[in-house]
Amino acid sequence: MNKNSILEQAFDPQSFKWQAEQVVHVLVDYLQNAQSEAIITNHYQSPEDSLAYWQKHFDHIPFDLNHFLEMVLDRSMHLHHPKYVGHQVGVAVPLSALMSLVSSMLNNGMAVYEVGQVSSALERIVIKELAPYFGYGEQADGVLTSGGTLGNLTALLTARACKAKESVWESGHTQKLAIMVSEEAHYCVDRAVRTMGWGEEGVIKVPTDAEFRMRTELLTPYFLEAQQKGIQVIAVVGSACTTSTGTFDDLKAIGAFCKAQDLWFHVDGAHGAAAVFSPEYQPLVDGIEMADSVVMDFHKMLLIPALTTGVFYKDGKDSYRTFHQKAHYLWNNQEEAEWFNYGKRTFECTKLMMSLKVYALMKAYGIQLWEEYVTRMFNLGKEFAQLIRHTPNFELAVEPDCNIVCFRYAPTIPTQDLEELNNQIHLNLYEKGEFYFVKTKLKGKTYLRTTLMNPFTSITHLQALLEQIEEEGLKLTQTIDRYSSIS
Ligand SMILES: Cc1ncc(COP(=O)(O)O)c(C=O)c1O
Repeated sequence: MNKNSILEQAFDPQSFKWQAEQVVHVLVDYLQNAQSEAIITNHYQSPEDSLAYWQKHFDHIPFDLNHFLEMVLDRSMHLHHPKYVGHQVGVAVPLSALMSLVSSMLNNGMAVYEVGQVSSALERIVIKELAPYFGYGEQADGVLTSGGTLGNLTALLTARACKAKESVWESGHTQKLAIMVSEEAHYCVDRAVRTMGWGEEGVIKVPTDAEFRMRTELLTPYFLEAQQKGIQVIAVVGSACTTSTGTFDDLKAIGAFCKAQDLWFHVDGAHGAAAVFSPEYQPLVDGIEMADSVVMDFHKMLLIPALTTGVFYKDGKDSYRTFHQKAHYLWNNQEEAEWFNYGKRTFECTKLMMSLKVYALMKAYGIQLWEEYVTRMFNLGKEFAQLIRHTPNFELAVEPDCNIVCFRYAPTIPTQDLEELNNQIHLNLYEKGEFYFVKTKLKGKTYLRTTLMNPFTSITHLQALLEQIEEEGLKLTQTIDRYSSIS
């Protein structure tokens, strides 16, 4: 190949060395600046401004790696900042992020053992080592997949294969099928059901109590009602925990119901299954050992870069029933339960070498890393709730089970104005960028929502957040005539 060809340049090891050094150098500074709060969490740009900015860069500015990195970092959300208390996305441990780089470079596809010897073996070890934390025995097995959404769909496809009376994979189905799940479950469960073609009737939403926990006493009447309508309920999904408020369903009660009715019991533990690593908080997931399958996102409460999700099965044999795909260019026999050809059991064909990220953290820091982290963040959730309860003009939505805390600024003004006030506080402070938190609607009311993800967030930061909200709230109530005439 011509030495000056673009291809030759793109693959030149010395260029890579130089580029990698620049990237690491910039990221080291970034990590220091974010952790020491030398920068703010987020510089807000409207979608139009952001697009125009990058279009201009694409059209007119020559590529300079350092400049490009600077631009990307300046305009990104900084999860490593202790004032990041927004969505449930994990704060990546740098070692694990480096494993993403290795995975991207090697690009071993993983669908079959031949192109994923290392990552397949590591995946097996990770799953087998972690399954006992769910109270699972020797027969347990599972797979890593790209996100909780896909993980929940995969587990529900397995449930369908194991529990539907008809052989749906081969011939479709004539009988109406459904699952039961709390009305507060993540939307991806609803999406999985509709993706399987069961429509709205296929997802029976069980109401929740005042704390947003599934009312398990309603499982029997809802199940009987479905039966009367000719719908075969095949599974119940327990939330551990719900997304909006971080509430853990009573898994023991759901497990007992599923056992009595011979239903598949699936736990969506995308966020909260990590409680199994904290002796203090493990009781939140009592009953998880009864589940036929559990989904746990490593990229939420386990400090690993997205996307990395585990789908764990109590009986590993079930995992081979999900898909029956003839693919002679990959494997000879679909029926054979070959643990090492992961493509037989995952939705993905080509898959990232995600096991590297998990394995490296487990080896370097041990389970103690997760134990410390989960306990610390869940404790902080409780401490923050206590602070909110004792701060005038603030109202806690619900006593938190974990590190998701919802509350609102609630001075004495008419209820409808509180909605507008909290929406405006959220918008103004998001644009300001010092803190990043989100909002949600609970039983028709707007609440500010924090998920305490950053291991360096302290109660002092959260105190400062409340002060900033109060300050903004006061400014708004004074500048909006309608409020000031009342307050
Ligand atoms: C309870 C729960 N399940 C599933 C998901 C979806 O996971 P992912 O974003 O990895 O697809 C989320 C995401 O927030 C969640 O909170």
